[in-house]
Amino acid sequence: MNNVKLSESVYFVGAVDWNLRDFHGYTTPRGVTYNSYLIVDEKICLIDTVKEPFAQELLDRVSQIVDPAKIDYIITNHIEPDHSGALPAVMARAPQAKVLLTEHGRTGIIKHYQQNYDFQVIKEGDVLDLGRNKLQFVPVPMLHWPDSMICYLTGEQILFSNDVFGQHISTTKRFDDENDISEVMYEAEKYYANILQLFGKTVVKAIDRVKALPVKLVAPSHGIVWRTHIPEIIARYQDWGQGKTTGKVIIAYDTMWGSTELMARQILDGVAAAGATGKLYRMSTADRSEVVRDILEAGGLLIGSSTLNNGMLPNMGALLTYLKGLRPAGKIGAAFGAYGWGGGAHKAIEEMLTGAGIALEQPGVSLKWVPDDAELTKCFEFGRQFANKVLTRV
Ligand code: FEO
Repeated sequence: MNNVKLSESVYFVGAVDWNLRDFHGYTTPRGVTYNSYLIVDEKICLIDTVKEPFAQELLDRVSQIVDPAKIDYIITNHIEPDHSGALPAVMARAPQAKVLLTEHGRTGIIKHYQQNYDFQVIKEGDVLDLGRNKLQFVPVPMLHWPDSMICYLTGEQILFSNDVFGQHISTTKRFDDENDISEVMYEAEKYYANILQLFGKTVVKAIDRVKALPVKLVAPSHGIVWRTHIPEIIARYQDWGQGKTTGKVIIAYDTMWGSTELMARQILDGVAAAGATGKLYRMSTADRSEVVRDILEAGGLLIGSSTLNNGMLPNMGALLTYLKGLRPAGKIGAAFGAYGWGGGAHKAIEEMLTGAGIALEQPGVSLKWVPDDAELTKCFEFGRQFANKVLTRV
């Protein structure tokens, strides 16, 4: 088992989950890591633990460096079980360790594990002296849970950012520049879109609070450690947090007998004719968390569905329910689709788009049964007009 020394005092002691493919509905085709870091200073400090089934892997990695019984402090930046699940196993080996966390973290750990450890509750501005280095704590509530916290190691200048700047990726190489950076950036974008997108304003404020710090490494709780591409990932986060969008238009739809698909393809041609980048996803086959990644930077979102039982097809309901929770910023949207008689899907889609915070700046297009040539031309023009609106907003 290889331990990786990240700096003079800091080691990666986390776990690599090569085979996980589903993180409660978020697909992880490249696997996952649960990052834990050991600081070996005059005091021994563990930053976060790992998911419970990987507790032994964590303890084995720590044991190669120091006896776990010598751990003085465990920093619980975030109580979600992918980071706190192994805490009881670590505490069994290091019962004297003090657990540092926010008040929300303290109540959450007690409720999750029914254990009352030697807690030290962290408040804004608190500092922990480790010897050569100090840890400065920055609570960041709702990034992405109320308990969330990040911390900064002075001296060696490492920001332990927990879920912020994370990516779901398994690799034997721990640093950004040792991996395919386009793959890392893709997974960072997917992570932000699916986990942090709802909290964009909070992301921007948190970056404002830490951006004056000199940072040599950004060490998140998932994926690689940033050392070369720190300015790029911070800039991307600022753009995403501010809801900056491009001229891209996403068309996501599902179809019963093909009419809504015919409409979608005509609309896509209209989008392309306007000079915008169009992307087409049929949600009965597309991966929702991948589509949400592509929607993140899109300026326009067109949602199509046949009408089924006076409403939309279930795959579209699932996507829109997910988007309503994420509340994507800075986009315009519209509905389209075919129906047989009542035509309830169109209204239902518009209501869900509005509920997701997406502005309806153009009436959608709907038609009965199968589109004829005139209706296909109408779909093409609808796509072109919509894309022109998106392009004027960039
Ligand atoms: Fe990676 Fe919110 O836990």
